[in-house]
Amino acid sequence: MTSISELTFFDSPIYYCQEIDSTSDFLKPSPIQYPVLIVAEYQTHGRGQYGRNWQSESGKNLCFSFQYFPKNLGIENGFKLSQGIALAVVRGINKLIAPKSAFIKWPNDILLENKKIGGILVESICSENKIHKIVVGIGLNVNQIHFPEELKNAGSLKDIIPNITWNTWDILKALIPEIEKSIQISNITDYQTEYNQCLYKFNEVIEVMYLDKTQKLLNLGVDKHGNWRLKNLDSNQVYTINSSREIEYLYN
Ligand code: BTN
Repeated sequence: MTSISELTFFDSPIYYCQEIDSTSDFLKPSPIQYPVLIVAEYQTHGRGQYGRNWQSESGKNLCFSFQYFPKNLGIENGFKLSQGIALAVVRGINKLIAPKSAFIKWPNDILLENKKIGGILVESICSENKIHKIVVGIGLNVNQIHFPEELKNAGSLKDIIPNITWNTWDILKALIPEIEKSIQISNITDYQTEYNQCLYKFNEVIEVMYLDKTQKLLNLGVDKHGNWRLKNLDSNQVYTINSSREIEYLYN
């Protein structure tokens, strides 16, 4: 069983706190100029994408954020970093469970057996069209089995593999090397192929709420700019989506 003292992030010890408002909010204004990773047992104001809350039962899950300073990464390539991080999480989970068990729902939700088990919040601090610093917050549902009513599609590792109670440090130990690898090379690597291979229901017809109506569309995967492409098989029209706010996945 892993203990926190064994873990490092880019050769620095990782920080742990029992309770904090949000690990990402802690790192965003930090004056420290090297990579730092902080894990919290409980967040009082955990944040998700688009100002949503991220709720996580105390001590059951992984809630952590890290800061990193990319070298010479233009803002137009920021999506590669985000893809690289999602792939790192998927690879880490697959190492723990089985190959090809975790998938990405565009742009960076982590799914296991049709359930959202994790989310990633990437925030960038930019100057002169370059990404100077990123703060990445990752929430992974590990041992929690009850979720609020409104989170219809939430799940956890335990929810899906009930006979195992996971040690969250073991999971972090599997994720960190993958994250370190991915973020170091993400300004030079093109993840399009690997990303699409890990994309949930790639090349399948999926049901979504898009343009104010329920539609069945073929999931064509992401293009080289990281946008999601979907095709209406009746009209042959191809839609290019660049914000997850435009579209809602309807799970069935
Ligand atoms: C999402 O909406 O899917 C992204 C969720 C990100 C949650 C994590 S938990 C650790 C970090 N601190 C936060 O306040 N949010 C992120």
